[in-house]
Amino acid sequence: TAEPLVLGIESSCDETGVGIVRGTDLLTNTVSSSMDEHVRFGGVIPEIASRAHLEAFVPTLQAALDDAGVTLDEIDAIAVTSGPGLAGALMVGVAAAKALAVATEKPLYAINHLVAHVSVGLLDDNDELPDNLGALLVSGGHTEILSVPDITGDVRLLGATIDDAAGEAYDKVARLLGLGYPGGPAIDKAAQNGDPTAFRFPRGLTAGKYMGSAEKPGSHRYDMSFSGLKTAVARVVETYEASGQPVPVADVAASFQESVVDVISRKTVLACTENSIDTLLVGGGVAANSRLRALVTERCNAQGIEVIVPPLSLCTDNGAMVAALGARLVAEGRSATGIVFTADPGLPV
Ligand code: KG4
Ligand code: ZN
Repeated sequence: TAEPLVLGIESSCDETGVGIVRGTDLLTNTVSSSMDEHVRFGGVIPEIASRAHLEAFVPTLQAALDDAGVTLDEIDAIAVTSGPGLAGALMVGVAAAKALAVATEKPLYAINHLVAHVSVGLLDDNDELPDNLGALLVSGGHTEILSVPDITGDVRLLGATIDDAAGEAYDKVARLLGLGYPGGPAIDKAAQNGDPTAFRFPRGLTAGKYMGSAEKPGSHRYDMSFSGLKTAVARVVETYEASGQPVPVADVAASFQESVVDVISRKTVLACTENSIDTLLVGGGVAANSRLRALVTERCNAQGIEVIVPPLSLCTDNGAMVAALGARLVAEGRSATGIVFTADPGLPV
């Protein structure tokens, strides 16, 4: 039988994504972002994001169908992100997907956004996910380490940030340094000319008591924290400003980045080695950070863990990842969710 042709819809944050796959073959990954409308507010404004999804949905769907060269009629199933994410934003995608499913009489699958991030690994030349797979998801909205024994049946949350997401920390520190929004790319750039050892900023939840003995699992063993780091950066900036000295922006940016990347890579290695993970997939917008990729890869490789970083267009929020997981569910003969489900902003893995 032919591979299922699946349309995936993503609207959990500021990206309206429509992706179409045939089995594990990516036909289109069409994305419209409302980021431009959020820039002057220094963060994603939920109400604006919801309205933007409403306006962008039909044009994005049409562009995706055109790009893939398929008609709505030919689609075998529809998949949509039902959570986690911004409530109003999710609701637009879920309502659109339900309407589409009812109108076309196609089966509809509700998809977990975090699991979908990992499923881009299915869009590889290799149709199967590696055994002993783990995932590191780092974006403006989430920072998680997952164990993925079975993408459609067993995905476990090993650790997560207990306060700010990694990308959120970048955005907040960029604001402190006057670097604008979104802050990740700006700090990444500023850090290139800075000394990462100029300031020794705190490494959240990496003291021995949180990571030491596997026999005494601390409650935050694989968890991360970035709010203390952000406060420490604020103190340094205040001190320079109070003394009338210019803030050494490049050095602060590089030192801040080194702390974030150090925490993430140490926690990731700990979680992988203690959970028999030997392949790690990295996802989320912060995967664009070259220092993060370098240190995670270096430290994982040193422990025999292979690191996969998909192309950035598949790391940031998109519809193709939703379609990929939907296609897998169809291929496994799983029954559809139907239209009786709601968007769940706090959906766990
Ligand atoms: O996955 P994404 O596009 O959207 C969600 O948050 O879901 O990720 C955006 C986040 C922002 O916080 C942005 O500052 C961060 O990713 N980011 C980066 C870089 N590029 C984007 N952070 C660090 N270094 C980068 N080069
Ligand atoms: Zn995401």
